[in-house]
Amino acid sequence: MPPRRPEEWFDDDRFWIVTYPFMFPPERFERTAGEMSGLLKLAKPRGKAVLDLCCGPGRCSVELAKRGFRVTGVDRTRFLLTKAKARARAAKAKIEWVESDMRDFVRPGAFDLAISTFTSFGYFDDKDEDRRVLRNILDSLKPGGVFVVEVMGKERLASVFKPTTSQPLPGGGWLVERHEIFDGWSRIRNEWILIRSGRTETFRFHHTVYSGQELKGRMEAAGFADVRLFGSLAGGEYGVNAERLVAVGKRP
Ligand SMILES: C[S@@+](CC[C@H](N)C(=O)[O-])C[C@H]1O[C@@H](n2cnc3c(N)ncnc32)[C@H](O)[C@@H]1O
Repeated sequence: MPPRRPEEWFDDDRFWIVTYPFMFPPERFERTAGEMSGLLKLAKPRGKAVLDLCCGPGRCSVELAKRGFRVTGVDRTRFLLTKAKARARAAKAKIEWVESDMRDFVRPGAFDLAISTFTSFGYFDDKDEDRRVLRNILDSLKPGGVFVVEVMGKERLASVFKPTTSQPLPGGGWLVERHEIFDGWSRIRNEWILIRSGRTETFRFHHTVYSGQELKGRMEAAGFADVRLFGSLAGGEYGVNAERLVAVGKRP
């Protein structure tokens, strides 16, 4: 049995349900094939067993399964797993779906490749729990297995940071976002205010932001070897123009 833990923001299913249309618009799914081509070039997995940790609606899982990989998609949010299953059915892709918290999922020596995409890492208040997730991933890889993690890096965030932004929502209304950096530039606190038909709904969430070197250091401390950094899944340099932070490491 997984341990009982205090509720955190990501345990609020309504957050994932309400934000789904703009977090996962059709364009995000359309980009996925190109992203997975880039990811596979960076990772060069030796075998076909893939762990998609925090797989959400199965964007990457389904694309990798279509390319002949045996994918296990793990996520805590049943609503998103239901979307993932429907997507896999439509693509005639056979995928194993596991409803689990990333702190609990570990399957020793099972995978050639593990992925964590679209800022699905760094969610926990207790940084030891991020460390534990990295250990779970390392243990779940075969020796020589590769882990690819893709997040918004701290360097990028610092260069584009605005305390308040707004954007129109698909289907009408507005999303107003407020952002605050705290804990000595290690965390970001976000408030998303959805304004639709004259009504507002507010969600608050926070997570750790890693610089390239911090993420590399955490991965090395967890036991990953040959950790390399990139500025996108296409493999660009993690330099001033990097839009994303991608780290690739191996289980020795
Ligand atoms: C931004 S989405 C990314 C989804 C997917 N990786 C992608 O690239 O489309 C973050 C995902 O993390 C999942 N998640 C959040 N906290 C989690 C936890 N503690 N354990 C497992 N999954 C979690 C959410 O349900 C959601 O699917």
